[in-house]
Amino acid sequence: MNVTFCCTDTKAEPWLAGLRMALPHAHVSEWQPGAPPADHAVVWAPPQQFLDEQTRLKGLFNIGAGVDALLKLRLPPHAKVVRLDDAGMSVQMAEYVCHAVIRHFREFDGYEADVAHSKWSYRKPRMRADFPVGVMGLGVLGERVARALRQFDFPVHGWSRSPKTIEGVVGHSGAAQLDGFLASCRVLVNLLPLTPDTRDILNHRTLSLLRPGGYVINVARGAHLVDDDLIALLDNGHLAGATLDVFRTEPLPAAHPFWTHPRITVTPHTSARTLREESIAQIAGKMLALERGEPIAGLVDPVRGY
Ligand code: NAP
Ligand code: GLV
Repeated sequence: MNVTFCCTDTKAEPWLAGLRMALPHAHVSEWQPGAPPADHAVVWAPPQQFLDEQTRLKGLFNIGAGVDALLKLRLPPHAKVVRLDDAGMSVQMAEYVCHAVIRHFREFDGYEADVAHSKWSYRKPRMRADFPVGVMGLGVLGERVARALRQFDFPVHGWSRSPKTIEGVVGHSGAAQLDGFLASCRVLVNLLPLTPDTRDILNHRTLSLLRPGGYVINVARGAHLVDDDLIALLDNGHLAGATLDVFRTEPLPAAHPFWTHPRITVTPHTSARTLREESIAQIAGKMLALERGEPIAGLVDPVRGY
């Protein structure tokens, strides 16, 4: 079995070493233009030339959960596209989102500002019932986040394409239930994949439906959010703040207003990192399963877009 590795912005050596350990009978190498086609590929943002050369590929393994960038390319015709299926990401995402929700709800950002001026000040306790949280996307990451938020007794709503039942979470599904879902929430967490149906979904109309004093946490993709609409709703007071981990252009350009907006918290696309060891174990296991003709989880449907 031949495995090729082609990941932009990723140090190849540790991945190659890990894949060789996990697949001792495979030939694993970093892609060079013109190399013979492989049986399986491990990729992140590969060039089109790489994909065009993979004429006999069985599995195309993306080392991230989101495949929006990969699906923009012309893919080898018979390869199964496989995304990372948790591989240690869901617990990180639950940590990040719970931290952001609790930081806002408990006003820890305000306390941090007070401490900077040696100011000892209490704030009136807020009612959890006044902070219903909505999670858009109840897949591998969204479901874990929704369950984690329930552990802190927040009222939690979820929105997905197909109906989902998660204990303690009020389910909404499909385009017809989007507005009702948004109107139920004060804090909105985006964990949707980026597809033609979800691009620009966080816009002036939809964000205006959140309860007054709304808070937006975008941890999915920058192109879900219309940047100017968020700023307008923060500046007119409908929204109280936002925590943003993903951006239309990454790294976020130095002149972008998100960096300096007083009610926006920016992190550098770090809410759920790809963990190399977990990912290699998952990918190697799935390559072997495909070789044996067994079904695997985490298959992407290129038509659906995720
Ligand atoms: P997933 O398992 O594929 O879940 C996607 C969820 O979104 C599913 O519940 C799906 O509904 C729902 N959905 C898709 N299209 C929809 C639509 N048009 N309307 C309503 N719901 C829709 O994906 P995941 O592993 O949880 O990852 C989600 C996204 O997180 C990734 O695509 C990636 O962009 C982002 N991500 C970000 C980071 C980071 O560090 N910031 C890290 C990892 C991932 P069904 O359940 O009905 O299919
Ligand atoms: C990161 O953003 C991922 O999609 O895994």
